[in-house]
Amino acid sequence: MCGIIGYVGTSDSSVRVLIDGLEKLEYRGYDSAGIAYFKNGEINIIKSSGKLVNLKNKVDLNDNSNIGIGHTRWATHGNATTTNSHPHKAGKFTIVHNGIIENHEELKKCLEKRGYVFLSETDSEVIAALLDYLYKSEKDMVKVIEDAKKMMNGTYAVGIICDDVKDELYAVRNSSPLIVGFGEKENYIASDLSAILDKTKKYVTLENDDVAILSPENVDIYKDGVKKSYDVKTTSYTDDEVSKNGYEYFMLKEINEQPEVFKRTLLDYVNTSYSNFLDSMPDLTKYKKIRIVACGSATHAGLVGKQMIERFANVKTEVETASEFRYNPLFLDDDELVIVISQSGETMDTLKALERAKENKNDTLGIINARESSIARESDYVLYTNAGKEVAVATTKAYSAQVLVLTLIAMNLAYKKKIFTSDEIRNILTEAKEIPNKMEYVLSDHRYKEIAEKIKDQNDVFFIGRGVDYALAQEGSLKLKEISYVHSEAYAAGELKHGTISLIENQTPVVAVITDDRIAAKTISNIKEVKARGAYVICITNDDYDLSCADEVIKVPKTNDLFAPLLSVIPLQTIAYELAKIKGNDVDKPRNLAKSVTVE
Ligand code: G6P
Repeated sequence: MCGIIGYVGTSDSSVRVLIDGLEKLEYRGYDSAGIAYFKNGEINIIKSSGKLVNLKNKVDLNDNSNIGIGHTRWATHGNATTTNSHPHKAGKFTIVHNGIIENHEELKKCLEKRGYVFLSETDSEVIAALLDYLYKSEKDMVKVIEDAKKMMNGTYAVGIICDDVKDELYAVRNSSPLIVGFGEKENYIASDLSAILDKTKKYVTLENDDVAILSPENVDIYKDGVKKSYDVKTTSYTDDEVSKNGYEYFMLKEINEQPEVFKRTLLDYVNTSYSNFLDSMPDLTKYKKIRIVACGSATHAGLVGKQMIERFANVKTEVETASEFRYNPLFLDDDELVIVISQSGETMDTLKALERAKENKNDTLGIINARESSIARESDYVLYTNAGKEVAVATTKAYSAQVLVLTLIAMNLAYKKKIFTSDEIRNILTEAKEIPNKMEYVLSDHRYKEIAEKIKDQNDVFFIGRGVDYALAQEGSLKLKEISYVHSEAYAAGELKHGTISLIENQTPVVAVITDDRIAAKTISNIKEVKARGAYVICITNDDYDLSCADEVIKVPKTNDLFAPLLSVIPLQTIAYELAKIKGNDVDKPRNLAKSVTVE
């Protein structure tokens, strides 16, 4: 949520670095953007509402500058206007901010009494004014920022420049992510590594409460006002991972990467002889119950995980949305494991849910894609998904990698509990090796666009399924609505007749998922019920059921039930993608959304 970039160096390329970085960070928010840089000793602030391209049109990339900060915004306080865009300047301080200053109204009133005039409706502008006010009586910048920290409640990652010091860049972090990048006679701050990967692979992740002072040759990091030592890390990510590689959209590229992601993630937990499988995961047999907590699609991955863990490992598993878990009565048993799932590892509600579980003294396990992220650092155990960088706001490959890791947890538990014998595990894992080819087969089906064309003029789409297929229906529905802006809802197939069936009219699309043979006949009956009311039925299945009642049948390859969701989700993702494209939407950056939601 909001992307921050900052540069200080001996070259004059600041403007270019800022714009390049914002392009990479645009997935974090894209309703307005801005940069501030020193040019001939004067601060220059350029801002624009709308996508980054509007800002680019206003900026001269050849402007010489050795220091600057930039921001791409996802509005929380105040509309996406140019005035509300960052950077904000007050007195001698110019800042960019990601997060929410909860006591901004109170701070604003105090600062107004001291002569500050606020131009924007944002919570962020108070940070600039507060720093400027404190600086009047204290010139040590670490102390100024420390004092400001004490007065601000909320979450923040802030990049700061000061009119009086034209070769230093300042940064402070509390909850919202921020890294420092190390170059040759130049240093950077950024919300994440992707913004600077083409410039450097060396970085440090700032911890909560860290204050950093960057100059072209040096970076000092302070904790509670005291300089601390730090280890510079080197990432193995390459810039290639954040390019489209010839695909029209990142989302399509990422859908097509799923076979590769499956192979990579599986290899992290299972070697070719399967001999490490038992030990590649922590022993979770001591937990009598599991609570899965996450947001968005990660919650939907959790719902698939619940089905797998309960059915195959016989452990009671509940799934709760992180924003609800945070404030609901906990009812966590002592022997209950809390699993948090997050692609970014920075989702604020998931992070706070994790902290609540830890405060309650429950063990926690994170299923995380982004290494070095806050949730990865704070979880007791971490199982990584190996999806690589995901850029499209609508998750696809990270979701399926989460489903895979949850499935492996179910298998591992079942193996340790002796529900599965080693021969059974060996057979299942041998079958798993076929999944990438089967995924390729599903990806090669050419009818997704045709189906999207058929439903493009409808206002509502319904998704139905039972058990694990209901979990998939929920993900399919979310994918469709978030990028195509067509209203959709997912229902347990048996539930439709208790109300929602009244919405089925002639040609209303109903997407049914049927992969669980034990209850397939029941869902087929539900299809007949909606068909009798005029629905246009698209059925995704992996078996030879008599589906003559459906208008379209997408047949995915048969596989062990443990892996079935990884195949049947692909048509759901691809139909959503095709529909969004037909509608002319920006598939990778759907309106009002952001990839990493670092506010509550
Ligand atoms: C946002 C994204 C979703 C994602 C959710 C949770 O809403 O648009 O695609 O599922 O956040 O993100 P996380 O990084 O925690 O998996």
